[in-house]
Amino acid sequence: MQVSVAPFLFAILCLFGISRASQHNAPHFSVNNEKGRGRTLPKKDNSLVTPVVVNINFQQSLGTITSHFVGVTIDTGAVEHNWATLDFSSKKVQTLARALVPTFFRLGGTSADAMTYVLDTGRDHSDHSTIMAPAKPGFNMTAEQWVTINEFVQTVGWDFIFDFNALKRNADGSWNPDNARQLLQFSADRNYTIAGFEMGNEYNLFKRMYNTTLSPSQLAKDVASLQSLLSEFPKYYGSFIIGPETAGSPADYFETFLAAGGSKVVRAASFHHYYFAGADRILSHFTNVKIMDSFKHQVDSVFNQTRSVDPLLPVWLSETSSAYNGGALGQSDRFVAGFLWLDKLGVASSKGIQTVIRQDFYGGNYALVDIDLNPNPDFWLTVLYKRIVRGAVFNATGRHDVRVYAACANTDNFKAGSLVLYMLNPNNYSVTFDMTQLDHMPRQRYTLTAGDSDGLVSKFVSLNGKKLELVNDELPDLKPEMAPSGLETVAPYSYTFLVFEEARVSICLH
Ligand SMILES: *[C@@H]1O[C@H](CO)[C@@H](O)[C@H](O)[C@H]1NC(C)=O
Ligand SMILES: *[C@@H]1O[C@H](CO)[C@@H](O)[C@H](O)[C@H]1NC(C)=O
Ligand SMILES: *[C@@H]1O[C@H](CO)[C@@H](O)[C@H](O)[C@H]1NC(C)=O
Ligand SMILES: *[C@@H]1O[C@H](CO)[C@@H](O)[C@H](O)[C@H]1NC(C)=O
Ligand SMILES: *[C@@H]1O[C@H](CO)[C@@H](O)[C@H](O)[C@H]1NC(C)=O
Ligand SMILES: *[C@@H]1O[C@H](CO)[C@@H](O)[C@H](O)[C@H]1NC(C)=O
Repeated sequence: MQVSVAPFLFAILCLFGISRASQHNAPHFSVNNEKGRGRTLPKKDNSLVTPVVVNINFQQSLGTITSHFVGVTIDTGAVEHNWATLDFSSKKVQTLARALVPTFFRLGGTSADAMTYVLDTGRDHSDHSTIMAPAKPGFNMTAEQWVTINEFVQTVGWDFIFDFNALKRNADGSWNPDNARQLLQFSADRNYTIAGFEMGNEYNLFKRMYNTTLSPSQLAKDVASLQSLLSEFPKYYGSFIIGPETAGSPADYFETFLAAGGSKVVRAASFHHYYFAGADRILSHFTNVKIMDSFKHQVDSVFNQTRSVDPLLPVWLSETSSAYNGGALGQSDRFVAGFLWLDKLGVASSKGIQTVIRQDFYGGNYALVDIDLNPNPDFWLTVLYKRIVRGAVFNATGRHDVRVYAACANTDNFKAGSLVLYMLNPNNYSVTFDMTQLDHMPRQRYTLTAGDSDGLVSKFVSLNGKKLELVNDELPDLKPEMAPSGLETVAPYSYTFLVFEEARVSICLH
């Protein structure tokens, strides 16, 4: 699913005033004073012990992290399995789901295309369509299943995005909206709120998945029919559509869809990304900075293609995880998965992607919640990210072997003007950071390390040395430790969020 590399053309240059912190401190903390301050630590291997000098450009933001930046999916395959062990009435599941709010929730995936909605609408809307999937049988979603997911979504406060059955086709190859109309009627009758819709999943893989094809220009026509279908329902007239939902962004599909009229219908150009196949199961992939960088190249290609059609269209990463085909067993659901996940959030936000939807909340080896309905390490990381990071994103310099990201801190939980710096150390040695403009400030520190002696493949994660677990099915307090000013050392195989409430970054004050 990795596609071509392209230069990155897009940056939002928001030229606001520079931060008070950097204004005030720039003369005292200029970049080249590292040697003067005698900061090189006395160890043998200089390549490892020299502090990483971090400089942040507070003058412009690269993008904005909104309240809905991180979302979650459940794969439509879960409907096929009648939700497996996922008990939507469980208080624990509802607690875990609520901890992610506000969030988009996507119900979609490969099997969405072959799903028939068997609903009694009590009206005469007949469905004349059939599933055009020679290589795979279709399956039904019952009214009960649809009611269950909608009631759950309403109960926990998720913002629903639903993926329609693109394989419902007329003889002339166009999408047949009969069954979708039945679903919308049924939903409108019950006043279900659905924020957005998609038309199918990863059509560029249809040959492999379903032994059929759907051209990007046909898909552009189909999303236009979906738009007119939505306009039949006052309840869904204002819901958005995203697309083309490609696996990666092959130009002959992604860009061609947008250019063929798709860009005029969709609220965001959407694509999917995975780094490697679940079956690979190579642990070192998860801490490999070259693999982290492969995502950057993918995003550059997506923006290049989107911008060549529409200079303003937002870009969403609407389904993503570490490894495709269900994730890597014993890796994608362990502590080690957090390196690729946190780096992906850093890269996506720095490159201006508006929304990143994690595959998945439940199901497969990459879930935030395991089959026993307990949180995996990435659940905690995702909750922390949502609580800590929100607002403008800044360019932070780092070093080839580590990753450093800077953004405004979430003003729901921190003083306006606060800055968060998050750094990943995916190495087996510790790394010291000299944060030049920030070294003189105390900070609140959230350090995540493996939760037990299983290390990278631990099923648990510790926050500031304390293993995170539910307490009586409730989340514990996720408190930072107060840390003094100075350089910051990040332990091997760990990642840390530092919140500087005294930073008073002007872009973060507004
Ligand atoms: C990126 O866009 C530029 C300008 O539209 C084009 O020249 C270049 O070939 C594109 N690169 C890729 C990899 O798509
Ligand atoms: C795929 O479809 C073609 C005809 O379009 C057919 O000849 C072939 O047998 C099909 N393959 C499978 C695996 O169903
Ligand atoms: C789906 O529902 C239809 C109509 O109720 C029924 O005829 C069909 O057998 C069902 N298919 C499956 C796979 O259950
Ligand atoms: C339908 O849902 C909307 C949005 O949630 C709400 O404002 C409205 O009151 C509901 N209408 C009825 C009849 O329940
Ligand atoms: C971020 O800063 C680095 C170092 O100054 C620079 O090379 C890079 O182009 C900047 N990135 C963006 C997106 O501005
Ligand atoms: C760290 O990893 C390198 C190679 O990745 C290895 O050569 C070295 O022995 C490891 N060091 C420790 C302390 O585990």
